[in-house]
Amino acid sequence: MRRNKVDKSKILDSIFQPKSIAVVGASATPGKIGYTVVKNLIESKYEGKVYPINPSATEILGLKCYPSIEEVAGEIDAAVITTPAKTVLGITEQCGKKGVKGFIVITSGFGEVGDHELEEQIVETANRFGMRVLGPNIVGVLSNSGKMNASFAPFLPFNGKAALVSQSGALLIALDAASYTRGVGFDKLVSIGNMSDIDIADTIEWLNKDDQTFCISLYVEGFKNGRSFIDVCKKAQKPIIALKAGVSAHGAAAAASHTGSLAGAAKIYGSAFQQAGVVQATDLDNLFDRTLALSLQPSLRGEHLLIITNGGGVGVLATDAAERYGIPLTFAPEDVQAELKKHMPDFGSAKNPVDITGQAGTEWYVDAVRYAMAHPWVDGLVVLYCETAVSNPQEIAEGIHQAVLESGIKDKPITVSYVGGEKSDNAMKWLVEHGIPAYAAPDTAINAMAALREYARVQEMLNDKEVIYDGVDREKALKIIADARADGRDSLTEVEAKQVFAAYGLPITQNYLAKTEDQAVELAQKIGYPVVMKVVSPDILHKSDAGGVKVNVKDEQGVREAFKTIMANSKAYKANANIHGIVIQEMAPWGTEVILGSVNDATFGPTMMFGLGGIFVEVLKDVTFRVTPVSSNQATRMIGEIRGAPILAGARGEKPRDRDALAKTICQYSNMVLDLADEITESDANPVLVYENGQGLKVVDARIILKKK
Ligand code: COA
Repeated sequence: MRRNKVDKSKILDSIFQPKSIAVVGASATPGKIGYTVVKNLIESKYEGKVYPINPSATEILGLKCYPSIEEVAGEIDAAVITTPAKTVLGITEQCGKKGVKGFIVITSGFGEVGDHELEEQIVETANRFGMRVLGPNIVGVLSNSGKMNASFAPFLPFNGKAALVSQSGALLIALDAASYTRGVGFDKLVSIGNMSDIDIADTIEWLNKDDQTFCISLYVEGFKNGRSFIDVCKKAQKPIIALKAGVSAHGAAAAASHTGSLAGAAKIYGSAFQQAGVVQATDLDNLFDRTLALSLQPSLRGEHLLIITNGGGVGVLATDAAERYGIPLTFAPEDVQAELKKHMPDFGSAKNPVDITGQAGTEWYVDAVRYAMAHPWVDGLVVLYCETAVSNPQEIAEGIHQAVLESGIKDKPITVSYVGGEKSDNAMKWLVEHGIPAYAAPDTAINAMAALREYARVQEMLNDKEVIYDGVDREKALKIIADARADGRDSLTEVEAKQVFAAYGLPITQNYLAKTEDQAVELAQKIGYPVVMKVVSPDILHKSDAGGVKVNVKDEQGVREAFKTIMANSKAYKANANIHGIVIQEMAPWGTEVILGSVNDATFGPTMMFGLGGIFVEVLKDVTFRVTPVSSNQATRMIGEIRGAPILAGARGEKPRDRDALAKTICQYSNMVLDLADEITESDANPVLVYENGQGLKVVDARIILKKK
């Protein structure tokens, strides 16, 4: 649908940095949005031209008003639309003809209330003229460096180095005000609304090139195209942090596979953010706190965090928090301890946290911080301060700042926490103004440091390479799928699903389909006893429930009895079930049960799941997801991050399971579901039995649900 052939980012310049703005629907009536936008542009001291457009006014807030956009003689970069929904399509055409480039639609009443058609027509019309649309249903765009409040939010945000992109307009307004009370600075606020044309990915791409933006902060409800978001974020040179709202399970009710029912939005988004190199926030406070750190400090590139404190209590709280947030403390090496000992009384402690005691004055802080910053063992520093009568909070703040400067170190992060009263608050403000994130609780200063660590970790993960496997027989897999479709089915039988798995190199148990009792005996002898026997019917997905499974069948008589019983049970379960026969399967020796699976997620496409099988998946839902393709490092992380990971590592005297083979299988599975994305909507390998190191694994049961065509 998109037809603009013009340079996309140039057009976005005219939305985020326009040289001239028309406000279509500008109003002389205070309280109206069309009035507020003009007033805001004036009050923010916007330096470009402002053209109010309204057929029934000649002047608005001292500016000449034009009856229509065509009447304006000069060029117009951006038009901000504040007229009712039904007028917007006509205005789009007029703006297009006038040569407007950025079309900023504040108006509500489109896709968000079900009128997708009108919204699409507007985008189509705009794009036809090479115009790009921001919105509709937005608050507008605010920029401190551009001195531009092209919105109906009350004022420009507290000035700083971050940019906030929000899918909720109301929240953007609230955060605008909160930026002052929280002391977290933003250069730009972008309300993105319905994302009819310009989406989050486009905005990130532009902000990545913007030299006033040092950190991109996102409030996300959902993406239209999750993969383009991942691609853009991967290329970004700046930290991106996202708060995802709306994490209730979606699509779970209709899911036909285990994986489908476990694929909640939260889990998939969480994985996608990690794979995109994006840091996550847990709530609004956390988004602010982490944004502050990410916009002011470099990432934490190692594990050695040092805490300097004048209070034991806050030191302990910070130590607990460090462990909780995944950056546990270790003792500083001897030389560091020996040197730090010189900057504290005898009763201080130079371990970690370094307690320079309540007696500490500015000089001790300065010496300790300067030394610690410069020492190669220290990767990052958290400085804690409790307001005391023997020290001056402001002097300490200036001392910390001076020490950081004197250390000459620019690539190590520092965060600070002051616990105290007004003087402490003022000193923290000063620190933030001087580039050092400061927080009112030790826990928060540690969490901010954890964000800097998370940024380094997720960025390192971007270096992971995709693994390509040889020996894939795609044609064979497609043939099996085509045959099932020709049979009028939208799911594969276990035997077929396993053949597809085998075509992608997955280790499956030996299986043969028996149509008759005699054939069953013959095949059981070929495989060797004991065997497993299962009904094969596209109409019976839950074979055990139907009494369609017999395990540990030990001899010919057993096979004959099992054959009769399974057939009888299956017919009793579903009289008209189409029964292909009974699969005779090798009885795989016991191993640790795991589940592998996939869903074709509406936002991110083929997405892979892994977890422990049996009760772990049924009851504890101990599973993890990745958007495909899954690199081998990511597969290893998946295995390590489930709660049941110690079981695979060899808990309670058990031998470790073959996690290398498991990681390889996860990668192969991920390649399969990506390669067959047009065919497979959901799949499970459940259970997969994982054996001791070196002995691999076996897929015992398989399910593939096809995409409806
Ligand atoms: N060209 C220029 N001006 C036009 C016009 C046109 N084609 N059609 C109407 N106008 C003028 C109107 O005459 C009016 O000016 P006036 O005050 O001088 O009469 C002005 O545009 C606004 O139109 P009006 O009909 O008074 O609408 P409104 O101000 O009550 O509401 C919106 C308009 C856009 C604010 C409203 O439809 C809306 O969408 N509100 C929600 C916005 C929102 O919350 N967005 C963010 C969600 S997070």
